[in-house]
Amino acid sequence: MSRRILIIIGHPDPAPERFCRALAAAYAAAAERAGHQVRKIDLAIMDFPLLRTADAFEHGPVPAPLREAAEAVVWSEHLVFVFPLWLGTMPALLKGFLEQVMRPGVAFDYPDKEGALTKSLLRGRSARIVVTMGMPTIFYRLWFLSHGIASMRRGILNFVGIKPVRETLLGPVGGINSVRRSKWIRQMEKLGEQGL
Ligand SMILES: Cc1cc2nc3c(=O)[nH]c(=O)nc-3n(C[C@H](O)[C@H](O)[C@H](O)COP(=O)(O)O)c2cc1C
Repeated sequence: MSRRILIIIGHPDPAPERFCRALAAAYAAAAERAGHQVRKIDLAIMDFPLLRTADAFEHGPVPAPLREAAEAVVWSEHLVFVFPLWLGTMPALLKGFLEQVMRPGVAFDYPDKEGALTKSLLRGRSARIVVTMGMPTIFYRLWFLSHGIASMRRGILNFVGIKPVRETLLGPVGGINSVRRSKWIRQMEKLGEQGL
């Protein structure tokens, strides 16, 4: 079954040799070959402001450079986030993007006047979080309890109705040999093909 897939590359460094870019490209190419519709957002080449106030979050418009991205989030049936682990969680650039886009009117609404309750607007969508890291993934899972991923899953994606949220953690990526790298690229191709 063909799916509408949005790939969000959350690596702040636009250098083509970043491993995250190779992973995202492998996923995208395989998904397209399998007949899925694929759109890509590369945050490293976008220029947008940080959210500064609650008032802007509640009542302001999505900043102009992000309107197309917000529209792509609504268009998608499946979101794939690819980013490096930075200081235990997503890079600030990606958090800044999510604060601007996952806002009232786009991702959730307040059904009551007091704003005490929220209604998720992005139900029916799934996601995959692909994270590269310098440490072995088992350390991140057992010692850090995958805290950055857990807060992204529950605090942001589940909150706006996106579930299930699956994860692919890859590490250690520093100094990886080409056999390991090819294995991870193939893993991305398989997921892209399945639209998962
Ligand atoms: C600012 C910064 C913070 C980092 N923090 C972590 C970290 O907390 N844990 C970790 O395992 N690796 C950390 N790393 C290593 C990156 O996760 C790793 O370099 C990256 O996943 C490699 O993928 P890339 O080639 O796409 O950049 C950090 C790297 C940078 C530059």
